Amino acid sequence: PRRTGLMKKKKVLKICLRATYYTCPDKPVFTPSSLVVKYGDPAFATCVACQSDCDESLANLEASGYKEKNGSTLKWKVSSLTEWKSDPICYYIDHNGTQCCSTLKVTLYQMPTNVSISVLNHSGPMLEKSQYNLVCEVGDVAPAENLTVTFYRGQTELGKAQYSRTTSRKPENGSFSLSLNATKEDDGAQFSCGAKLELGPEGPQRPLVVRSQSLTATVHCKSKENPLSSVVKSTSINYFKSNILIILCYSQHEGQYNCTVSNSVKTVSVLFNVKVQSK
Ligand SMILES: *[C@@H]1O[C@H](CO)[C@@H](O)[C@H](O)[C@H]1NC(C)=O
Ligand SMILES: *[C@@H]1O[C@H](CO)[C@@H](O)[C@H](O)[C@H]1NC(C)=O
Ligand SMILES: *[C@@H]1O[C@H](CO)[C@@H](O)[C@H](O)[C@H]1NC(C)=O
Ligand SMILES: *[C@@H]1O[C@H](CO)[C@@H](O)[C@H](O)[C@H]1NC(C)=O
Ligand SMILES: *[C@@H]1O[C@H](CO)[C@@H](O)[C@H](O)[C@H]1NC(C)=O
Ligand SMILES: *[C@@H]1O[C@H](CO)[C@@H](O)[C@H](O)[C@H]1NC(C)=O
Ligand SMILES: *[C@@H]1O[C@H](CO)[C@@H](O)[C@H](O)[C@H]1NC(C)=O
Repeated sequence: PRRTGLMKKKKVLKICLRATYYTCPDKPVFTPSSLVVKYGDPAFATCVACQSDCDESLANLEASGYKEKNGSTLKWKVSSLTEWKSDPICYYIDHNGTQCCSTLKVTLYQMPTNVSISVLNHSGPMLEKSQYNLVCEVGDVAPAENLTVTFYRGQTELGKAQYSRTTSRKPENGSFSLSLNATKEDDGAQFSCGAKLELGPEGPQRPLVVRSQSLTATVHCKSKENPLSSVVKSTSINYFKSNILIILCYSQHEGQYNCTVSNSVKTVSVLFNVKVQSK
């Protein structure tokens, strides 16, 4: 019976589509004019097929679920809506034999089951001044076309992303990315993303947002190309040319040396002993 119902609906749709060239002066009117329903929630609407006199026997409602007819008023009710495309069609056949149709747009929505953030193809500390991609993965959300993903550093918005392709009404998985140039300031920062469904005034008034867990970034400083300006300190001798210490084979050069190299970030010292052997 479901299959024949679908076939009948398709046939009605086809006739309605053909009839769109014909501007019906008295179109069927749905109340409410559109519906936003959470997956599994009840749904109901009423259609008045024609406002002025029409042949009530030729008024009908094409929809799955419970239907009730009283004159040209048609009621539709579903206790738990789980059909992703359920738009009911209300119609009647006018004096000219033309089908006058109206479709109730039913937006069935589902909050994402899972929202997570990661760094694309990377784990461990990031390097400053390098580019990375933050990836936000969103699981089973519908309708995907009304989803906006926002990336955050702490509470600061970094950018937004949306589906770039056309989506179906069924739940979809999505992967969104944002490029990030890591800086020293990002060290210790908390990155996260939020998936938000925007369903307009007919939708729920509370915000429909699922936030990912935070990812704490570790950013290491990048060494400069020529990072180490060596300073060789020695109490007894100072024979060094550029960065090379020259030790001559004199017995007075024997002893402990402290070689210190440093850049703006840190200093490293190495102690070593020099022994001069006499021939
Ligand atoms: C049908 O509609 C009429 C007029 O609105 C109303 O008086 C009547 O009670 C309705 N019948 C049912 C069964 O709802
Ligand atoms: C949520 O997504 C993450 C990353 O894609 C995955 O590791 C995890 O298994 C998912 N959890 C569920 C419940 O789907
Ligand atoms: C990330 O890694 C996957 C497999 O590990 C690879 O197919 C993909 O090309 C990589 N993406 C980038 C942007 O490097
Ligand atoms: C989304 O991902 C989950 C977990 O990997 C999977 O079970 C589910 O079938 C996917 N949904 C779609 C619409 O591809
Ligand atoms: C990251 O840095 C590169 C090179 O400095 C620059 O071309 C790019 O626009 C920057 N991207 C962002 C997101 O700031
Ligand atoms: C949902 O997305 C569709 C397609 O982009 C758009 O026409 C519709 O206005 C959106 N709804 C809201 C409430 O933004
Ligand atoms: C080596 O020299 C550095 C820089 O002057 C100093 O901080 C460090 O204490 C010295 N090491 C020893 C063992 O004297």
